[in-house]
Amino acid sequence: MKKLHRALERDLDELLAAIRSGGAVAESLRQARGGIQKHYRAEEIFLEKLGMYDPRLATKISAQHAEVLEIAAGAEEAISAGQASDMVSLARRFQALAQHNIIEEERDVFPLADRCFTSAEQQKLERALSENA
Ligand SMILES: [Fe+2]
Repeated sequence: MKKLHRALERDLDELLAAIRSGGAVAESLRQARGGIQKHYRAEEIFLEKLGMYDPRLATKISAQHAEVLEIAAGAEEAISAGQASDMVSLARRFQALAQHNIIEEERDVFPLADRCFTSAEQQKLERALSENA
């Protein structure tokens, strides 16, 4: 599952580089948003299962996902409205929160999954995640 995160991080790094250089922020944002949307959808099954072991953590991660997607939608609206400075500040928040979410998942969620799920369950979940990624 960490492999899937590395691909998202490449998009997020590109977005950050675009923000810093004043480059193609809208394009980088769309690319990163697309990957993130798919990834979060795929992770839903995983979080549902995790919620049986640690509902508070699963809820926190789901709420982070919802917030990242909401910020991305706001950034997209700013692009449509031609509000460049709003778009850049929303893109920054999107990038920071999406990266933070990846770090929290790898620190708190994956180790818990390793303890709670059997290796057969893990494999099944990983397959489902890769198929939807
Ligand atoms: Fe994730």
